[in-house]
Amino acid sequence: MLWLPATTAAMARHEIKKQAFGMTDSGEPVEIYTLTNANGMEARIMSYGGTVVSLKAPDRHGKLGDVVLGYETLDGYLKNSPYFGAIIGRYANRIGKARFSLDGKEYTLGKNNGENTLHGGFKGFDKVIWKGKEVKSKDGVGLSLSYVSKDGEEGFPGNLTVTVVYTLTKNNELKIEYNATTDKATVVNLTNHSYFNLAGEGSILQHELMIDASRFTPVDSGLIPTGELRSVKGTPMDFTQFAGIGTRIDQQDEQLTFGRGYDHNWVLNNVTGGLALAARVYEPGSGRVMEIYTTELGIQFYSGNFLDGSITGKNGQVYKQRYGLCLETQHFPDSPNKSDFPSTVLKRGQRYNSSTIYRFSVK
Ligand code: BGC
Repeated sequence: MLWLPATTAAMARHEIKKQAFGMTDSGEPVEIYTLTNANGMEARIMSYGGTVVSLKAPDRHGKLGDVVLGYETLDGYLKNSPYFGAIIGRYANRIGKARFSLDGKEYTLGKNNGENTLHGGFKGFDKVIWKGKEVKSKDGVGLSLSYVSKDGEEGFPGNLTVTVVYTLTKNNELKIEYNATTDKATVVNLTNHSYFNLAGEGSILQHELMIDASRFTPVDSGLIPTGELRSVKGTPMDFTQFAGIGTRIDQQDEQLTFGRGYDHNWVLNNVTGGLALAARVYEPGSGRVMEIYTTELGIQFYSGNFLDGSITGKNGQVYKQRYGLCLETQHFPDSPNKSDFPSTVLKRGQRYNSSTIYRFSVK
């Protein structure tokens, strides 16, 4: 028999482990699942919000580091979380004036962001308990999470049955597959709200970013799209070539003023229906690279502008403005009120499918 030191033996396996992670205020138990692959990469995901609590990826020297923001314990997530690592639904990003019409009927939602609805309302999918099940596939180890959102929940029509499968693959990818069905026409837009910091700490302004998009959806002062698809050419929104996130973020630009930095949806070029490269992030200090592949049409790049130092997260880190970045694959914000945008309507008998891969490597 081949002898391996204990640590190597543990690392040489793809495995998933379930542990208790505390209780919600109403006494519901929360579990955390630890997924590991043979390279030592590790993802910890909890049943509250389907949240990615930590994600450890190697740097150019092979040293593992946690590349997502969040808390060490459940408590922080329950008290005050700007959607750290969570599944977002039923509708990711904003719905203007907190209402929309569907099949001639008007639906009123919660105004949890000024006059608008953000990330599904007051109690979105980030604040519910998902039912977890361990799954194994040829790609790696996975966690299947399901949740039934009731007809009328947060104002949305239809009982929506949602499943999200997280897989940690052999190739250092975190794959997220979303699907949903409904018993009545509704709107659906699901994403994950991880805040990445490929250095593991500090500002993200030195990270370099490429987004494969020649257009973005400009917004008004409430961050609701105007309906226009505008060329990025000659603007600080142009990430068609790798650019440092900090190089243009403070330029005099109406769109950057509205977002206090980047907080916009980019219209992806390569929409094939299959998985296509949407964005690439490189952090020069650690050498870490993250590539995002998605079946979605859009990606929200949010540069953590609303982090303000009031949150102390993992390892006592104070999360100041722009200490984390989100790249949320999605359909466009406010699509339910924009007839020219690709539809987010899901009808009875149809299936919502969406996949995104975050692939980690080094340069
Ligand atoms: C939005 C931001 C919002 C943030 C909440 C992002 O997806 O685009 O405007 O502040 O989520 O943490």
